[in-house]
Amino acid sequence: MTQVRYPDGNVLLRNLNRDFPMISHGKGIYLYDTNGNRYLDAVSGALVVSVGHGNQYVVDRIASQLSRVAYINGTQFTSMSAEVLAGRLSNLAAPLELNRCAFLSSGSEAVEAAIKFARQLAVERGEVERTKLIARNPSYHGNTLYALSASGRPHYKKAFGPLLKEVSTVSAPYQYRFPSDYHKEGADHYARELEVVINREGGKNIFAFILEPIMGSAMGAAVPPAGYYEKIQAVCRKYGILMVADEVLVGCGRTGTFFASEPLGLKPDMLVLGKGINGGYAPLSVLMVKDSHLQEMKKGTGNFMHAQTFLQAPCMTAAGLAVLEFMEHQHTIEHAAKMGELFHAKLQEQIAPLPNVGCINGKGLLAGIEFVDDKKIKAPYPRAKRIVEGLVAKGFEKGLTLWPNVGHVDGTNGDLILVGPPLIISAVELDELIGRLKECILETFQGSA
Ligand SMILES: Cc1ncc(COP(=O)(O)O)c(C=O)c1O
Repeated sequence: MTQVRYPDGNVLLRNLNRDFPMISHGKGIYLYDTNGNRYLDAVSGALVVSVGHGNQYVVDRIASQLSRVAYINGTQFTSMSAEVLAGRLSNLAAPLELNRCAFLSSGSEAVEAAIKFARQLAVERGEVERTKLIARNPSYHGNTLYALSASGRPHYKKAFGPLLKEVSTVSAPYQYRFPSDYHKEGADHYARELEVVINREGGKNIFAFILEPIMGSAMGAAVPPAGYYEKIQAVCRKYGILMVADEVLVGCGRTGTFFASEPLGLKPDMLVLGKGINGGYAPLSVLMVKDSHLQEMKKGTGNFMHAQTFLQAPCMTAAGLAVLEFMEHQHTIEHAAKMGELFHAKLQEQIAPLPNVGCINGKGLLAGIEFVDDKKIKAPYPRAKRIVEGLVAKGFEKGLTLWPNVGHVDGTNGDLILVGPPLIISAVELDELIGRLKECILETFQGSA
């Protein structure tokens, strides 16, 4: 079998109208299918494969853990791999003062756990009326029902509306479509909007604000304006609203530092990791919180009321620890920061001038590229043209994986892609990525006029 297309096989395929090549193996930044095709994995799978495919160090470390013990009940036992991983993450997060970690299996689960932690803290404090969450629009925080409720993704929510919870939203910052000087006026503009929403909902009714420090897929790696977090944080503190940083996509070196929050001046109350911390070697996500908040729970109900079957399971934490060890030995974060600068310089030089490239955002080894029908007036393509789907298909044809996103302009229109190769990518491999991306863009837009 070299590829599968519905109705072949018995896997419930995510897309019923396309081919799924059969991958046989991966090495470094490349994936290989059973037809002999090679793919440059320019989006690290789903921004996951931080330390590359086929990383033997990580494989051996996990195997060694699995042969000792793979699973323990996290409500009854702990293990050295969980303890050491939590210790190392807490050291890295010392400037953020986050020093307790819970290990779960997916980003969505960790987002749900963070939201529950924030709500429980409000209850412990006797602030039971704090029942509302603020999120940004557009945004993406996961596909379980509350994480989806918190996501500004109208087209993902359409069918599930009656099952979801109403969440108040503020605009996600986006320089390209900001009407005036983004870095001069953006922070004040977005902080004012937040305060208006808080006053409308009632400051005492809101328990948390969830956001990605740098945007992920929903808003093309958009970086906030200068001073944004200083102002946003001041507003949240004024009303006693906790801040949850969702670093599932942008954390673990993706944007050039281990935590994306730190260089932006964001000091969240809870922080969530996923993707890059597991490198694709096991499902693993992390909820990081402050000991001072746990102390409040200890004095109150005595427990954080949340667990799932795989809580702190060694088969997952061994993967996180191995990824972290590899990153430390190989100085992967420093390398990613250096490659990230080169990546953005090359994007500006070779991709930004192309027709239909509206803007390029991002930081480190993460970039979002918005495509427009008319560069002068920043007009998006009509959704019916399915521009970005065509570009991603072209990438597949040419052996380049890309991540599409639609709808960020007005909920329907807007075409962008994310590019984010494994953090171990070399300068030569970056040249290959940029060259292939340029070819794909030129061929796609030649055919779209
Ligand atoms: C910012 C962000 N949060 C949460 C999630 C959900 O993670 P998972 O798909 O592992 O549940 C994602 C997934 O793409 C994400 O990008």
